[in-house]
Amino acid sequence: MSTSFENKILDMKEKKEISLELLSYILSEASEEEKEYLMSTAREIAQSVFGKDIYLRGLIEFTNYCKNDCYYCGIRCSNKNASRYRLTEEEILSCCDKGAELGFQTFVLQGGEDPYYTDDKVCEIVSKIKKAHPDCAVTLSIGEKSYESYKRFYDAGADRYLLRHETANEEHYAMLHPASLSGAHRKQCLRDLKEIGFQVGCGIMIGTPHQTIENIYEDILFMQDLQPHMIGIGPFIAHKDTPFKDQPSGSVETTLLILSILRILFPKVLLPATTALGTADAMGREKGILAGANVLMPNLSPSQVRDKYLLYDGKICTGEEAAECNVCLRARMNKIGYQVADSRGDHPDFTGRM
Ligand code: 5AD
Ligand code: FES
Repeated sequence: MSTSFENKILDMKEKKEISLELLSYILSEASEEEKEYLMSTAREIAQSVFGKDIYLRGLIEFTNYCKNDCYYCGIRCSNKNASRYRLTEEEILSCCDKGAELGFQTFVLQGGEDPYYTDDKVCEIVSKIKKAHPDCAVTLSIGEKSYESYKRFYDAGADRYLLRHETANEEHYAMLHPASLSGAHRKQCLRDLKEIGFQVGCGIMIGTPHQTIENIYEDILFMQDLQPHMIGIGPFIAHKDTPFKDQPSGSVETTLLILSILRILFPKVLLPATTALGTADAMGREKGILAGANVLMPNLSPSQVRDKYLLYDGKICTGEEAAECNVCLRARMNKIGYQVADSRGDHPDFTGRM
């Protein structure tokens, strides 16, 4: 490996910047040795901030109804083959109880954009979870809403919000979504969420149709401007009942390289090794951790609905129970020299709710 590559990575680490040229070199020309150097640099940074602790987030997929029609997503409203479900408030609360017994201190309520769950209903669910589990963080991942709705969710006790921006480039955004959705609005939602006080997560898929290296570069610039607390990155995987059914999946290796780059640029950011990464590669989550990720998001949804929340084909863990994934993930982390942390796992700079 040339010392010039090493110097470029050290420079990136120091300045927290990457050029389009370096990004392009890493993604298309770097040697195995150079890629390994990048990943080990990222891994060391993650360990310097988080030690070998991995944070768990219990994911509760509470509705697969969605009013949107994103071209890549298996629960898009046009997919008539999706078997739709909604969890009741009691079912959601009992998932949290089960999660708390397993040691989880964060619950992520994720769903399609489902008007059935009005702001009142969402607030009630959030406040009931916070009442039952005061030491836990509640994360919402329910799409684009108004500033006022987000403010209500925050005041009801929600701590964090995940809304992947999907792509920062407007033209690319329009190739992935129908005209009723805009990249500009999605980015505005993220800014609103941050202003309100949420710990905010943005993110992208790797290898979506028409994605270019320039697009990924723009995503990095957007993230540098937004300064999110979390960044969700996973490979695109086709779903058989979507317009993208014949499109190739995103590359696991590219996903790992991007994870490493993000860890170097954002040393303290919460970076999950996603279920999509674990689906694309049986060891994907382990590889993600070793590339600099520090979060896992096991599924806490009841087993009877798990095989219905299918954003992409082949999703792992749809036949397992929450307790099985919990044991499995702890063992998988131990095997690579890490351990699951017993804490809420807030962003290192988080000092409490405003
Ligand atoms: N492949 C991978 N990830 C997907 N998502 C949606 N559909 C797919 C797919 N086909 C991701 C999106 C969304 C998140 C909840 O899941 O980035 O924001
Ligand atoms: Fe679900 Fe391993 S994480 S079975």
